[in-house]
Amino acid sequence: MAKRLFSGIQPSGDIHIGNYLGALRNWVALIPEFECIYCIVDYHAITIPYEPAEMQGRILSLAAVLVGCGIDPERCTLFVQSHVPEHTELAWVLNSVTPVGELFRMTQFKDKSAQFEGSVNAGLLDYPVLQAADILLYKAEVVPVGEDQVQHLELSREIARRFNARYGPVFPEPKERLTAAARIMGLDDPTKKMSKSLGNTIGLLEEPKSIWEKVRTAVTDPARIRRSDPGEPTKCNVFTLHGYFSSAEDIKRIAPACRAAAIGCIECKKTLYENMMKVLDPIRERAQALLADPEQVWAILRRGAERCRPIAQATMAEVKKAMGL
Ligand code: TRP
Repeated sequence: MAKRLFSGIQPSGDIHIGNYLGALRNWVALIPEFECIYCIVDYHAITIPYEPAEMQGRILSLAAVLVGCGIDPERCTLFVQSHVPEHTELAWVLNSVTPVGELFRMTQFKDKSAQFEGSVNAGLLDYPVLQAADILLYKAEVVPVGEDQVQHLELSREIARRFNARYGPVFPEPKERLTAAARIMGLDDPTKKMSKSLGNTIGLLEEPKSIWEKVRTAVTDPARIRRSDPGEPTKCNVFTLHGYFSSAEDIKRIAPACRAAAIGCIECKKTLYENMMKVLDPIRERAQALLADPEQVWAILRRGAERCRPIAQATMAEVKKAMGL
C-alpha cells in the first residue's frame, strides 16, 4: 500500500507562479507515488486579520486553481479543513502534550507576531499544534513542505512522540519531504522575493495581457543599458525564469545570444512569455471553467471531506480510548 501523504495550503489571496513552482507542481508530481490528501487550511487562515466576507471566495478560487494545476480529485483527496471538525478536536487534545515554550520558539510565530503586533491571538501561537493535528489525524507519514515549515514538522514529531509515550503508540512520526526551493524573485525588483504582500506576483488566474505587461517591463541585467550592450544571463531574473518555463534548446540558444548582444531583452522576454503561457494558459482555463460553475467546485470539496471523515473519526476514537476519555 502506498504511504499516506498530507499537506495544507492557506486560502490567502491569489496564488502565484512562486506558489506553483515552489509547491503545487510538486504536489501534483507526488500523486502517483502516495495516497495524497491535500487540505485548504481555513482554520489556520483565521489566525491573522482577514475579511470574513471574502473567505468563501478565497477558498473557492484556491480550490479551482489547485484542480486546474492538476490536483485531480479523482486521483487524490482535496478538502477544506473546517469541513472535518476532528482537526480542531485533535488539536485540543494535542495541546495537552505540547510544551508552550516550544510554541514561543517557533520562527513563524515570532515573525507573524511582530508583523501583526497588537492583534496577536492565542490561535497564532497554537497554529503549529493545529498543523500537527492535520497531519496526525490521518497518520500521514510524508508531508511535502518548504524549508520554512521544517520547524513545524519537527514539532509535529515531538508532539507525536510525547503522545505515544504518555498514552501508547497511536501516531507514526511524520517526515517532511522538502520541495525544491524555488526562489522566484519579483519582476519589478529582482532583489525581493515574489510575494502577495509585495504585490509583485504573477497570478495563476491573471489575464495574459496583464502578465505580458509585467514581463515586458521586468528588470533585466542592470549593466545592459543599450540594445548593443552584451548582457550577462546569470545576473538576469528573466533568464532565471526561462529556467523554469523554457525548453533546454531555448535556454541554450538565449544565453550566448544575450552575451553577444545578438538578441535584445524584448525578444528574450517574448520567448519567456510564450513559454510561460504554455504552462499557465491550461491552468487558468481549467480553473475558470470550474469557477463558472461554483457548485461543481463545492461538490469536489464535499466529496473530499466525506472521504476524510471516516479516517478522522477512527483516529479520534482511538485517541479518546487511549486517553480514557
Ligand atoms: N503551515 C503551512 C504553511 O503555511 C500550511 C499547513 C497547515 C500545513 N497545515 C499543514 C502544511 C499540514 C503541511 C501539513 O505553508
